[in-house]
Amino acid sequence: MIVLDKSIITEEMIDAAQNALANEFPLFGESVFKFEEEFAYFCGSKFAVGVGSGTDALIFSLMASDVEGKEVVTSPASYIATANAAIHSKATPVFCDIDQTNNIDHSLVEKKIGDSKKIKAIVPVHLHGYPAPMNELLEIVEGRDIFLVEDAAQAHGAIYFGKRTGALGHIGCFSFNPYKNISVGGEGGMITTNDEEIAEKIRMIADAGRENRFTHEHKIIGFSSRLSTVSAAVGRVQLRYLQEWNEKRRTAASIYRKLLADVEEIVLPPDKTEIHSAYNKFAIKTNVRDALKQHLNNNDIESDPHYPIPIHMQPPYQKMGYKRGNFPNAENFAATTLSLPMFVDITKEEIGEVCEVIRNFFEM
Ligand SMILES: Cc1ncc(COP(=O)(O)O)c(C=O)c1O
Repeated sequence: MIVLDKSIITEEMIDAAQNALANEFPLFGESVFKFEEEFAYFCGSKFAVGVGSGTDALIFSLMASDVEGKEVVTSPASYIATANAAIHSKATPVFCDIDQTNNIDHSLVEKKIGDSKKIKAIVPVHLHGYPAPMNELLEIVEGRDIFLVEDAAQAHGAIYFGKRTGALGHIGCFSFNPYKNISVGGEGGMITTNDEEIAEKIRMIADAGRENRFTHEHKIIGFSSRLSTVSAAVGRVQLRYLQEWNEKRRTAASIYRKLLADVEEIVLPPDKTEIHSAYNKFAIKTNVRDALKQHLNNNDIESDPHYPIPIHMQPPYQKMGYKRGNFPNAENFAATTLSLPMFVDITKEEIGEVCEVIRNFFEM
């Protein structure tokens, strides 16, 4: 069986976890602050705040951006948490369709914003690890009171025109669940920003609305969603390997590209010189997606679409009045996308086998 993905836990990570459990306080331990500092430095941002999940990173970032009663523009081609975050922060999600890179179409965002005074934030998603069109989006928000909040849940260490994700917009949101490029051995999240006020606000929201853990005064209605010390200790070790791991993912992606280049029925993931995906997923597009997935499965190869139902077609969003046909590109993407096995130590032979099975399917 060739699996779809694998998260890495090594002896070094287990030692770090044991050490943190034995010697540090379970919350707000030294490992948390060190991980935050190192993660911020890695991304190229000034501040980072650890939280309980990627979803909470998005919710708290939008709350700190004062979106309540306003609109949040985002992509329907994402994990549902992206749009849910707008709802949890008492805003209305507003979708813009995607372009051929599978990320939000900046020209549609520009049209949508027009003279609107209601839009308070844009949440582009770096889907599968491939950065959204941040240069164009930054131009759109220039001079406007609109926050650009990156959903970088799948894009730790992706590079966009020389800069890392998380430092491209006003706030970056990361997930550390077991399917991500860093998984901290469980789950967690991180926000990055250059804005100290935003960082402190998010810290407060994540810790029951108090300014620090030594006070009994709770200034705002907050949540209880901190990154645990043991998770941070594991995350610190993983962060040291992230660059090397991402390079391995990129090498795997280039082997896939070479072996599938002449399969006409397949569209390969986007690729541009100035953009280096973190390849959380290696996702192809094909009109015979379900049959190909079945064929791979028959040959002991896992594959899965991320995501087969666009957010506006999910039941709660259907109840809000969204319909099939609202976002045709996202709907077409959902019907054709298929993620192939992609993990750090996938071998050349395994990729060769996956591609051989795909080529057989297309009778090549
Ligand atoms: C694009 C995207 N946004 C947000 C999230 C939410 O992250 P978490 O599962 O850590 O809450 C995920 C995780 O699957 C994701 O892939």
